Parts: sequence; structure tokens; C-alpha cells
Amino acid sequence: MSANVPKELGPAGPLLGRIGVAALSQHAVQAEFTDTVGTRALHAVEEWCSAADSKGSYRLRTEKFPFGDVIEHFRCVGRGDAHPALIAKLRDLHASVQSTAPPEDEGVSTPPLSSWLRLTFDQEDGDYHTYVGTHLYDGMRERSEGEKGDILSDTIMAALAVDLLSTETSALAAEPSRRQRTRARAAYQLLRSMNALAPAWGEKFEGKAGPFATADVLKGDEALTAAASRAVSAAADQIEQPVRRLVEATMLPVTRLHDEQMFIRIIQIFEGLYVHIGRCLERAITALDNGDAEGCRDELSDAANRLEATPALFRVLTTMPREAFAVIREKTNGRSAVQSTSYRRVESLSAPRDPGSLSPQAPFLVLEGETLQEVLERQLSELPSQNVTRLKESMRRLDASWHMSKRTHWGITLKIIGSAPGTGGTSGADYLQRTAEVSLFPGLSMSGNTPTS
Ligand code: HEM
Repeated sequence: MSANVPKELGPAGPLLGRIGVAALSQHAVQAEFTDTVGTRALHAVEEWCSAADSKGSYRLRTEKFPFGDVIEHFRCVGRGDAHPALIAKLRDLHASVQSTAPPEDEGVSTPPLSSWLRLTFDQEDGDYHTYVGTHLYDGMRERSEGEKGDILSDTIMAALAVDLLSTETSALAAEPSRRQRTRARAAYQLLRSMNALAPAWGEKFEGKAGPFATADVLKGDEALTAAASRAVSAAADQIEQPVRRLVEATMLPVTRLHDEQMFIRIIQIFEGLYVHIGRCLERAITALDNGDAEGCRDELSDAANRLEATPALFRVLTTMPREAFAVIREKTNGRSAVQSTSYRRVESLSAPRDPGSLSPQAPFLVLEGETLQEVLERQLSELPSQNVTRLKESMRRLDASWHMSKRTHWGITLKIIGSAPGTGGTSGADYLQRTAEVSLFPGLSMSGNTPTS
């Protein structure tokens, strides 16, 4: 076994090469010595700290922070094995930055330093949010509202898909293998699907980049790599620098495995999707509350359209090898998407929830105001019956697509971890099978004098 192959994968593991699916990341294999041991990052941070005492606004100093060196080290060895002195330094720096950072801790084109530093020393007490950097993305999204906010949110999702495609095709070019080819193709198809998953960005991009290559063209590795490279550079032109830098800064895997990078990107895209669906539900509630049934339906259709495109995300996720995920799982114990606030928000905005049915790690959100189901119940007697029927159709469609997505997640989990427990303290696949059957709008499936009839 090569010295670069993670011993956890075992000598008999189906390794087709040192880079790619079921093997190491390109960063881990091709790293320079100083990036692997972490001395370059440590010195760069020390230097920044001493220079940071000199004059200059917080923003200007943040712009100069050596994000790249720290990220490179983390990508080479995994957050779990980063240089201990560097981690200690980043922890101290976080404490001092927290007390000096202006309320809006942001650079012009860098991620907010204080929030980002928090991700770098979470080895002992990390959770899902520090693992994927949800607060950093939330912070960026919160800076824009309405249509602008939707465009930004979709651009972030697209930027994540672009980065994923670039990583996967680069690994294919470095070490071709059947599994890597399947992954790279799935990543290409995912970028194609961005016009449905992130339509505000997709429309802009399709106009600019022209049609994607057909599946036939993608049969050979060279054709696939060339088509992907065209798509990536055309897409990158459509993504502003702060978004690109945030995407770069939130790739802090805990292992050296190539597969974990895919896992992180898919989670981050799903997070963006949950946030957007939550926004749609909020707007749907406001619209219905104002008697605007048509506006409410538009929001529900927007959410359902996107959810119906999630098979493209699952097709990438399903290329996760069991043996690689076993390693990732071990290193991410205590971090689980069951802790996702944006996911729980979607459920909590739809209808009243029973907290007892969830994992103790699931955030129980108490949201102000009524859920969509409650607003509909209240308005039943006032709305024309035709509107009520059409609204219920839209709600059922959203529920069906949410259900389909949960069932697929359960199926993939069963395939990848079998009956092993989850990292979020649940029974694992059994838990997911049960929660997959919980409707977004339980009132819609009951009979009698309720929103259902
Ligand atoms: C290899 C792929 C994956 C496996 C094996 C897996 C496994 C699991 C397991 C076992 C749970 C139960 C909670 C726990 O104890 O951790 C869970 C929950 C969850 N996962 Fe995944 N997961 C995978 C990928 C993803 C991805 C990419 C996302 C996207 C964000 C995601 C979103 C969720 C959500 C939202 C929950 C909470 C579901 C609920 O409470 O009803 N999972 N996952």
C-alpha cells in the first residue's frame, strides 16, 4: 500500500489510485512539505499577527489575512490533523479578534475573519455548523434581500457546484478511474441542473455559456474534462469574488479523503436549498395572509421546482464509497445535518411540529406567527373554493417533493452505512425512514372539516 493511502481504507480496499474516489484528495497527495507540516501557515499567521499591531483599519488588515495558507494546510492534512501550534494560535486569535472586530465583521472580498476562525479550532467541540460554515453563508445571504437576495443565494449554490466539478474533473485528469469518471460525470450533470436548482443564476449562466455538451460527447475523459473546463471558466465569470472566496474558505475537511470534499460541497448546496425553501415558505405565508393566493402558489411552485431537481445532487452523493464514508463518519461524530437549522425551519414554517419525534440534537425552533397550514385553516371560509383547491394542490406538490427527497436520503444512507447509528446520535437509517414519512402539512392528509377536504 502506498504511504499516501489512508491506512483506514485498508490494504484490500478497492483503491484504483492514490487520488480520487475512495482515495486521497489532490491537495493531500500533491502538497508541498511546508503545507503538509503546517509551518507555512503557522509562520504566515504569526507574521500577520505582528503586522496587525501596526496601523490600518480592521477591514484592511483582514484583507491581508493568510486565509490561503491556512486553508491549504487544512486541505492537505484534514482539520483533525492540523498543526497543534497553528490551531492554538488560531484559537487565541479568534478570542482577540472577537473583542476587536466591528459589529459587521467583514472584509470587502474576504470572509468575516471572526466567524471563519471559529471553524478552524472546532476539533473538540465542533458541530454541523462549524463543519460546513453555515453561519458564514447565512451572514453573506442576509446582506441582500428580495430578488437580489435570491440571485445571491443561487449564485452561492452555483459557485459550490462549479468548485465541485472543478475538483472532480481535476482528480479525473490526475488519475483516471471508473469511479472517478462516474463522479465527474455526475458533477457535470449537476452543474447543468443548476438552472433548476438555482434558476436565478442558471438563466444568467445559460445565456452566457451556451448549451452544455450532450451526454454522448462526455463519453471520453478528455471530452468530459474539456467540456467541464469550458463550463467552469464560463461560470466562474458569473460569480463575484466574495462568493468565490467564501466557497474556497469553507472547504476545511476533517480528513485527507477526496470523497469528503464532495460530501461537504453537496451538504453546502443542500443547505442553500433549505434556506431558499424557508424563504419561499415565509413569503407564501405573507402572501396568503394578505389574501394573495396566487402569490402564495408561486412561492410554493418555486420551492417544489427546486426540490424536484434534487436527484442531480443525490446522483453525486450516491458515488460515496462505503469505506470512505466509514472514515469520514468516525471523524465527524457529533456533527450531523440533524442539527441543521435551515432544514428544521422548513418544517416549522409549514405546520406545527411535535418536538418529541426528533433527535435531541435537532434544533427545536419556535417561530413567531402562524405556519402556512394554520394560515390556510384560518382563511378557508374566506377564500373562493377554487383558490383553496389550487392552493392545496401546490402544497401537496411541495410535500411530495420534500417526501421524495427524504426517501432518497434514507435509501442512500441505508446503502452507505447500513444499520449503523448516525453521527447525530440517532438510530441512523431507521430514524430517517420514520421521519421521511412525516408530512410537511399533516393537515392536508387528514379527512373531515380541515384544510384537507
Ligand atoms: C453519505 C451520505 C449521508 C449519509 C450516510 C447520511 C446519514 C444520515 C443519518 C444517519 C442521519 C440521522 C441523524 C444522525 O444521527 O446523524 C441523517 C440526518 C440528516 N441528514 Fe444525512 N446523510 C448523508 C448525507 C446528507 C447530505 C448531503 C445532507 C444535506 C444537507 C443530509 C441532510 C440530512 C438532514 C437534514 C438530516 C436530518 C433529518 C431529520 O431529522 O429528519 N445528509 N443523515
